[in-house]
Amino acid sequence: MSRYFDNELIERIKDANDIVSIVSEHVALKKKGKNYWGCCPFHNEKTPSFSVAPEKGFYYCFGCHASGNSIKFLMEIEGISFVEALEKLANRANIPLPEAKLSPAVRAREEHRKKLYEASELAAKFFHNCLLQTSMGKVGLEYLKKRGLTDETINNFRLGFAPDGWDRLYKAFKERGIEESILIELNLVRKNDKGGVYDFFRNRIMFPIMDGKGRVVGFGGRVMDDSTPKYLNSPESQIFEKGKILFAFDKAYKSIRESKQAILVEGYMDVISAHNKGITNVVASLGTAYTQDHGHILMRQAEEIILAYDMDGAGRQAATRAIELLQNTDFKVRVLAMPDGKDPDDYIRNHGPEAFRKLVDSAVKPFDYLLSESLIKYDINESEGKQAVMEAVFPFIANIHNQTVRDDALKALALPLWLDNSTIYRYFRSYIRKGNIELVSESQSVPKTIVSGDEDHLMALAINDNKVLQDIVNYLPLEDFQNIQYRGIIEKIYTLFITSGQMQGESIGEVLTPEEYEIYTRLMMLDVKEAVPVLIRKIRLHSLREQYKMHSIMADQLKRAGDSTFISELHKCQEIQSLIREWSK
Ligand code: UTP
Ligand code: MN
Repeated sequence: MSRYFDNELIERIKDANDIVSIVSEHVALKKKGKNYWGCCPFHNEKTPSFSVAPEKGFYYCFGCHASGNSIKFLMEIEGISFVEALEKLANRANIPLPEAKLSPAVRAREEHRKKLYEASELAAKFFHNCLLQTSMGKVGLEYLKKRGLTDETINNFRLGFAPDGWDRLYKAFKERGIEESILIELNLVRKNDKGGVYDFFRNRIMFPIMDGKGRVVGFGGRVMDDSTPKYLNSPESQIFEKGKILFAFDKAYKSIRESKQAILVEGYMDVISAHNKGITNVVASLGTAYTQDHGHILMRQAEEIILAYDMDGAGRQAATRAIELLQNTDFKVRVLAMPDGKDPDDYIRNHGPEAFRKLVDSAVKPFDYLLSESLIKYDINESEGKQAVMEAVFPFIANIHNQTVRDDALKALALPLWLDNSTIYRYFRSYIRKGNIELVSESQSVPKTIVSGDEDHLMALAINDNKVLQDIVNYLPLEDFQNIQYRGIIEKIYTLFITSGQMQGESIGEVLTPEEYEIYTRLMMLDVKEAVPVLIRKIRLHSLREQYKMHSIMADQLKRAGDSTFISELHKCQEIQSLIREWSK
């Protein structure tokens, strides 16, 4: 993370900025005790569970577990890089950031990316200008008007036209001194076998694709007739990772945040058509399916995702896959089955935005969607058909973590399939057995903390004070922590301390895993009054008693099984017993 700036500088920049005032620019905070509290900006909530500890420079959300320091906060909330966040903080505090600290390789890469962004931006301008200002673009403009788009929408989405001809863009860009290699890398031009260079997009309507910050990173280009391929798309590049970009997210995120709902569609035109009619919480995953990264982008803004895919084969498949990825996430998901097999664009143009909104309101839960889909698909008068329906929905049901919900889903099959519950359960059990599937139950998926507050408290003291850390290492076997993650955290921080003399600051973020770091920040929030020796003794005794229990059960079982090694278990019990006595003094 901080390879290009030394830790000392990073610490100085962090210290010079008050985390409360940084967070306050985005979240209304109220002081309660030592810490400040507000509604978390990373998930939707009505009661504040987002806390900021000014003395320690950390934030932690007890709801969604978002956590970190002021740099991480800026990175997350503004979607900027580590270096960008650091620059902001340095600026706020009037601390100059040394350019030279960037390694030459990193600087070269940044320069290169800058060129890619600039050329993409220029290409968007070129296409947009062709559409609106040239006679070549007339056909394109007519096409878009015919599809019902307003001037405002055309401008807002910066739609464009790639002129017919082999090298119009290439020549124009050459004149402006844009490097050929950059154009080739972006696939705006291509080289033929004889070394001649030609434009990749020709005689097509151009849809610029922007990243979350509104920077142009690629294009889709559509033919204006029925020829194929219908769309050409920019390939991935250093600035364009398709799985991480949602088309129009830069225009939709405000509305998604306000409505707490994101409508996910398949096509460029579906998005644009919706925005064109004032439905602005609509985005598309680009030709590719929904990915988990898309979820992370939406997660910060939406509570609910509406899947409004085309009802053709590919769209249905994409919907099923998205349902699977979204199952057991925090999103509410509903599926909108477009009537008469049309796509959202068709529907909105034929029936208007209000009718589409009604469709959205009537969207159904994923299970109901999957079930009704398969009931239509298979002939349930035949027993093969009944089985096919069950097999279509069993994967979804098996993946439900809550047993009551799972049972309800199974029972819901009885009526439409004309089977009794026990038959359905029998099929389900055999499906589970054949597929070797392990059902997850709620209690397994959400590990209960059997750990007493003592461990939390001791950890909170240890991460702030190297003397406490040293005491732990000296007196408490790490296995005594019932919380396994605490053992790893202590080990890593202690190693960091003896190798670098430090145990705080940016280096912590480098030695801990993200999960451990989250725990670390949560612990940072705690305010502990108990004395260290008392805590160590309590944890040690608790652990010894647990061990005693285990060995005596063991001894008992071995004895009953006639195994003579029970004696050694008894010896262990005695040893532990005397340790308990010692620690109880
Ligand atoms: P569709 O064929 O549904 O196109 O493909 P569309 O978006 O409805 O476009 P119109 O209404 O016919 O103008 C859905 C999406 O799949 C990708 C595009 O992202 C498109 O928006 N796609 C489709 C391609 O990348 N290439 C293709 O040849 C076709
Ligand atoms: Mn369409």
